[in-house]
Amino acid sequence: MKKYIDLRSDTVTKPTEAMRKAMCSAEVGDDVFQEDPTVNALQEYAAGLLGKEAALFVSSGVMGNQICLNVLTNPADEVICERDAHIFQYESGSPAVLSGIQLMPVDGNKGVITPEQIEPFIRPTSAYYMPRSKVIEIENTHNRAGGTIHPIENIIKVKELAKKYNLFYHLDGARIWNASVASGISVKEYASHFDSVSCCLSKGLGAPVGSIIAGSKEFVKEAFRVRKAWGGGMRQVGIIAAAGLYALKNNIERLAEDHQKAKMLAETIAEIPSLEIDTASVQTNILIFKPLKISVEDAITKCKAGGLLLSEGKVGLLRAITHLDASFDDIEKTKKIIKNVFN
Ligand SMILES: Cc1ncc(COP(=O)(O)O)c(C=O)c1O
Repeated sequence: MKKYIDLRSDTVTKPTEAMRKAMCSAEVGDDVFQEDPTVNALQEYAAGLLGKEAALFVSSGVMGNQICLNVLTNPADEVICERDAHIFQYESGSPAVLSGIQLMPVDGNKGVITPEQIEPFIRPTSAYYMPRSKVIEIENTHNRAGGTIHPIENIIKVKELAKKYNLFYHLDGARIWNASVASGISVKEYASHFDSVSCCLSKGLGAPVGSIIAGSKEFVKEAFRVRKAWGGGMRQVGIIAAAGLYALKNNIERLAEDHQKAKMLAETIAEIPSLEIDTASVQTNILIFKPLKISVEDAITKCKAGGLLLSEGKVGLLRAITHLDASFDDIEKTKKIIKNVFN
């Protein structure tokens, strides 16, 4: 079978030997009875890292975001988010299906929405004929904007706006680890501004499955109920929680390498006239770039023939994501393939 350098996503990583060993030797119990010691250890460790009272292990980032939104809202409520937010673009319309709520997308810049942009979209409480604004959501790093970091000053300003209007504040921190390593701001500092946080173990951190949601004890108690109601109560799930715990303890700091790899690729791409890239947007492990002479479909096919897998970002854009299974050597090879295809 042909071996590809796979930069379609940071979700394609496979567990390392050491991670598999941790999974193999995990102590397990029935997590629906909250008796799986490895799940409990993961939740406690993650809550500590995030500086929250409690945390809950869930199967995916989508499940994490959607449980959080469900707990924070009632049917017919509205969640304000950026137009390119994952919850708006990529979660299969599940806010409507699972919680009976709607999203209010606001145009942003590189994934960032400011209080000035948000405030006009907050519904007046006197308007009984309108949905109720209930939550403001932001994403950090921002996937569709190209892994951009949400500035902490804006996170704080939006929190103040949320407080002013008595709204909850949710963080889709699928890649909060990348934001933290690149900005030097701790995940605890980021998380401290939000009522609820969702973050992935199975992206840059390299675990095969799982996400964490965190918040107050009361919030997590309700999230536990919703997870069960949605069929997410699993039994001897310590087998996979062990991978998540291993990832949190071993794979955060190394994300800096992935960011370095992304910058190396961005430099090469910027030198190719038939490609367009905003290098200032390459802040973590995601690269979004535009083929100017061929279609995205053709570009993906040609790169594949050369041994490189890329994916489509927004319409007309290519996406590459660096991760722990793409070595520096692979990045050198990637540069060559890109030069061959696009020069
Ligand atoms: C920002 C963001 N949030 C949530 C998710 C959903 O994660 P999952 O694929 O584990 O459901 C993703 C996945 O790419 C993401 O990029």
